[in-house]
Parts: sequence; C-alpha cells; structure tokens
Amino acid sequence: MSETAQASDGMIALRKAHDVGLGKLQLLSDAVEATGWEDRPESANRLGEVFQFFEGELRLHFRQEEEALFPALEKVVGRQGVIMAMLAEHQSLWRAVDALYEKVDELKAADDRRKVARNIGLVAEHIVWLLRSHIDKENSMLFPLAERSLSARELDQISEQLSAIER
Ligand SMILES: [Fe+2]
Ligand SMILES: [Fe+2]
Repeated sequence: MSETAQASDGMIALRKAHDVGLGKLQLLSDAVEATGWEDRPESANRLGEVFQFFEGELRLHFRQEEEALFPALEKVVGRQGVIMAMLAEHQSLWRAVDALYEKVDELKAADDRRKVARNIGLVAEHIVWLLRSHIDKENSMLFPLAERSLSARELDQISEQLSAIER
C-alpha cells in the first residue's frame, strides 16, 4: 500500500456495494430484454428482486455516501463540483426509479401491455445507464480522491460512521 492510496474497511464496503449494484442492473436489463417479457413470470421475479435492491441496499448505500463519505470529502474539496454532481445523480436516479414504479403499476391495468412494456424498457435502460455511469465515476474518480486526500484517521471515522448507518 503506497502512502497516496489507503485501503479502509469503509471504502472496501462501498466498492463491494457497487459490485452488488452492477449485478442488479444486469438483472434489470435481463428482466425487460426479450419481446413479450411482460407476460413472463421470471421477468416479474427479476423486477421484484431489483425493486427490493432499490429500496434496501441502494437506499442504504446512498445514505452512507451522503451522510458519511460526502461530508468528509466536502471539507477537502468543497461542495461545489464533484460532490454536488454525485448528489444530483442520486436524485436523478430516484426520479427514474419512481418513473419505473409508475410504469410498472400502469402495466397491471393496461389495455396495450406491449406498449407499456416498451416504455418500461426505456426507463429501465435509462436507470441502467445512469447508475452504471455513476458507479463508474465513483470507482474511478471519487473513491480514489477520498483515499488520496483523507487521512487514515478520517477514513477510519468514515468506516465507523458507515457501520453505524447500517444499523
Ligand atoms: Fe453515489
Ligand atoms: Fe456509490
């Protein structure tokens, strides 16, 4: 481990959560991929698992970043710029997720299921793109910035805060 990059339990946990997220995004793509997916029970199961992820692990992960990591980084790099951009992306993601829930509700009573299903596919595609690119930015830019610019003590504090938020 070099002096400029420090590993910490907290950052490792945040990266692991990203890997879980990428898996769930693949599941979302798979769920709405094939023509006629809207009538396949396995698609409903996959969507159910993805929704559980959004409401559980993803909400927790965003809270952990917003309440522990971002405030610590903000002290070093300021709120304008990268922190604001990451917060805005979290909000965009929730807006897209709400749109997805609405469309999936619509599907239940839809006359033209194929058309609603196509729209769900588009929203899902947007979510996959949004969250993949967000994770990519955090992995390649934000997390290395934290590991370079925060002290070992600060990173330990973040690790502690993250576990406290988990409880
Ligand atoms: Fe994030
Ligand atoms: Fe993240």
